[in-house]
Amino acid sequence: MSDLAKPMISEDGFKLQESLDKIKHIIIVLSGKGGVGKSTVSANLAATLSMRGYQVGLMDVDITGPNIPKMFGIEDEGLDVQGEKLIPVSVPPSMKIMSMAFLLQTRDTPVLWRGPVKMTAIRQFIEDVRWGDLDYLVIDMPPGTGDEALSIVQLIPKADGIIIVTTPQEVSLLDARKSVTFSAQSQIPIIGWWRT
Ligand SMILES: Nc1ncnc2c1ncn2[C@@H]1O[C@H](COP(=O)(O)OP(=O)(O)OP(=O)(O)O)[C@@H](O)[C@H]1O
Ligand SMILES: [Mg+2]
Repeated sequence: MSDLAKPMISEDGFKLQESLDKIKHIIIVLSGKGGVGKSTVSANLAATLSMRGYQVGLMDVDITGPNIPKMFGIEDEGLDVQGEKLIPVSVPPSMKIMSMAFLLQTRDTPVLWRGPVKMTAIRQFIEDVRWGDLDYLVIDMPPGTGDEALSIVQLIPKADGIIIVTTPQEVSLLDARKSVTFSAQSQIPIIGWWRT
């Protein structure tokens, strides 16, 4: 097993596992470059699965540039808390959405966090959110294979697959190759390739 694919082990690993055990399939939407359509693909994939009758979670892991709420017109929603868990925002017919945007005071508030803090936030997005039983969890990543992508593959080493999004431009394809290598190193199969 490569270092990248090593699962994170912690005292409260069971809490993470408890949340993951209720999710049947996990799909990560990734790209090497920014602005190529990841959030659009994630939103449409989640909405399509939901319209087909599946229970779907959509997790916006773009901590510094969360766009998913805007795409569903729910950017002014806040999160309720039940017990120790955050309740994701529900969107019909059967979607649950979690995003950093719900936690920011204003739309213009920047998030100035370094890697380890982002890692903690992403972990909490999985284990401290009441996702419940899901058929699919779609994860919208920020661009590149940095802190957030590493956190996700360490927290969820058994994700079902990665969808790589790119544009036809050479620079975008060049960066997409890095996502392919990342997928191989993290031992999560590429299940789709979307060229916008
Ligand atoms: N197939 C498409 N045709 C035309 N425009 C598109 C297409 N897909 C996405 N867009 C537009 O391109 C812009 C960027 O899309 P999106 O936010 O989905 O990209 P992203 O990869 O998530 O960006 P970021 O890296 O900043 O998170 C948006 O304005 C979106 O509406
Ligand atoms: Mg995006």
